[in-house]
Amino acid sequence: MKIVETIAEVRAQVKQWRQEGLTVGFVPTMGYLHEGHLSLIERARRENDRVAVSIFVNPTQFGPNEDLASYPRDLEHDAALCEGVGTDLIFHPEPAEMYPEGFCSYVDMDVLTQELCGLSRPVHFRGVCTVVSKLFHIVQPDRAYFGEKDAQQLAVIKRMVQDLNMDLEVIGCPIVREEDGLAKSSRNTYLSPEERRAALVLSRSIAEGRKLAESGETDAEKLVQAMRAVIAEEPLARIDYVKVVDLLTMQQISRLDRPFLAAMAVYIGKTRLIDNFMMETGGAGTCC
Ligand code: PAJ
Repeated sequence: MKIVETIAEVRAQVKQWRQEGLTVGFVPTMGYLHEGHLSLIERARRENDRVAVSIFVNPTQFGPNEDLASYPRDLEHDAALCEGVGTDLIFHPEPAEMYPEGFCSYVDMDVLTQELCGLSRPVHFRGVCTVVSKLFHIVQPDRAYFGEKDAQQLAVIKRMVQDLNMDLEVIGCPIVREEDGLAKSSRNTYLSPEERRAALVLSRSIAEGRKLAESGETDAEKLVQAMRAVIAEEPLARIDYVKVVDLLTMQQISRLDRPFLAAMAVYIGKTRLIDNFMMETGGAGTCC
């Protein structure tokens, strides 16, 4: 496994793979890797001849009052985990490699970014779209892997690839959870033991929502109310949003009559956590 810091080194390696006729899978990350990230790399490993992983805490997707400076970093540990699951190349650039002086071109998106996390984090998706399109241009993968944990991000990237005619396949992978249900996240390390226990309201609320939808509920508002009620029982939790949106457009819907995403962002103390579930077929009457 190679670890490189420059765009030129990535291009040289990928060029060599291409000349050998090999396919390339790509997993973009911000590091501090856990089993969620590793599940993406393992899938990429199965479906491609070579696997590239980027580890870059992307400054442009953090707002001014967010956790860019404190975001956890541990390259040595990440590299060992990547090697363990068969990564061939790690791209770990410095911010100046990605954003040299004078940088002023961005990729922006309407509609899909105007709900959910896009509302609470106004610059976030512009930063994500910009860095991911840069990474796609640098690595030029056949396939790129994203987690359903960040469901809006996955929808945004799929839309960007379609809208801007990028020549690769975007593959969504299921949420990996701790044994007690908490969705794995690099940000879970911010939680005190008491907050860690309180954070279980997210997955409990998701389970409640899923149960209701599977039992045939078609009213999105009722689903949201039931999910909010679970979170309201936990004094350490403060809801940013709980919403049900159309899976493709990320716009709010009132009836569960099409593929949808039920998503939430909840503060546990100072830490903002997200979780979600999606139903591809819509609610009642579509079960086989
Ligand atoms: P990061 O938060 O490091 O996540 C990298 C990838 O891992 C994302 O596609 C995310 O959805 C996935 N992931 C995280 N936790 C997961 C879990 N519990 N189960 C399954 N997948 C999980 O998302 C980013 O970085 C950045 O926005 C990035 C795309 C790298 C652009 O900077």
